[in-house]
Amino acid sequence: MPVSQSTVQLINHLDRDYLRQALERDVRAGLEAVPKQLPPKWFYDATGSELFSRITRLPEYYPTRRELAILREHAGDIVARGGADTLVELGSGTSEKTVLLLDALAGAGRLRAYMPVDVDAVTLREAAGRLAARYPGLAVRAVCADFEHHLALLPRTGRRMVAFLGGTIGNLGPDARAVFLKDLRDTLNPGDTLLLGADLVKDVGRLVAAYDDEAGVTAAFNRNVLHVINRELDAGFDPAAFDHVALYDEVNDWIEMRLRARRAMRVHVAALGLTATFAAGEEMRTEISAKFRPAGLSRELTAAGFAVRRWYLDPTGDFSLVLAEA
Ligand code: SAH
Ligand code: AVI
Repeated sequence: MPVSQSTVQLINHLDRDYLRQALERDVRAGLEAVPKQLPPKWFYDATGSELFSRITRLPEYYPTRRELAILREHAGDIVARGGADTLVELGSGTSEKTVLLLDALAGAGRLRAYMPVDVDAVTLREAAGRLAARYPGLAVRAVCADFEHHLALLPRTGRRMVAFLGGTIGNLGPDARAVFLKDLRDTLNPGDTLLLGADLVKDVGRLVAAYDDEAGVTAAFNRNVLHVINRELDAGFDPAAFDHVALYDEVNDWIEMRLRARRAMRVHVAALGLTATFAAGEEMRTEISAKFRPAGLSRELTAAGFAVRRWYLDPTGDFSLVLAEA
């Protein structure tokens, strides 16, 4: 009997012109804002994704291990309740944890298609190839897209479960999150499900350590956005002239990562014809990472039109997965 071949299809909504214009818009707006800020999606070129993978293995960075523990324990139950045959994954990265869901779908005899969605084309293509080789007969449709802008363009075939893992939902601010959840709900059919990974509020010391590790990997990840802007927009940032800052905002319940100028400087961004001025000690926000309470996130999901079906917490109570139905 011949083994059925998997197929890999690549769909790209982020051609060079689109990416270039989006980066130009975000960098101009971010450097002219007071205080300055940059959106976190620009961390993730191939180097940024590799640095993120290293972060997931750091002793201080608990979310990946905790989410894996939940999936090891509950993937079978999640898949049984979801009833899906098609797994869509937003911000899929290396798709490492995803194999637990794919294995559970395969075990239930319902694995038809996998659609990873990511802004980083290099990491996306590698992951798609690896998973197609691992699951004979699986249709892999990898979509290079921005989940804040292209949800309506994602393929709509099959009974879908949308996985949004890792706590990436927390990298959106409250207003962006509400828009994202509503837009996502609008693309789903009744009975389709969302499996959402969310990091939970906890001891501030542990939270800050997770974003300011001893080995300095998160600092390198944070500075990577400056390398991306230098390369893509012909800018003159000296990444070594910025300190990595991670702090917890207890009012908003989020970690903020910032880059703090070590000295006063002027940075020319040639592609924008713009020169940004930094005062010594000035901080530019590069990421928020919101931490949730189940009741609050349930309210956000309900407001977007989802019905919350089940919460799964890891045994330490650090991290959660919530299964919600459209
Ligand atoms: N889901 C993986 C990776 C999390 S890292 C995990 O749980 O470990 C966040 C991922 O989301 C990265 O791969 C990054 O490239 C992607 N990403 C960030 N912003 C995005 C956006 N706006 N649209 C699509 N992908 C995005
Ligand atoms: C992808 N995202 C969920 C990570 C987080 O924890 O917010 C990104 C990250 N930033 C610093 N470390 C990891």
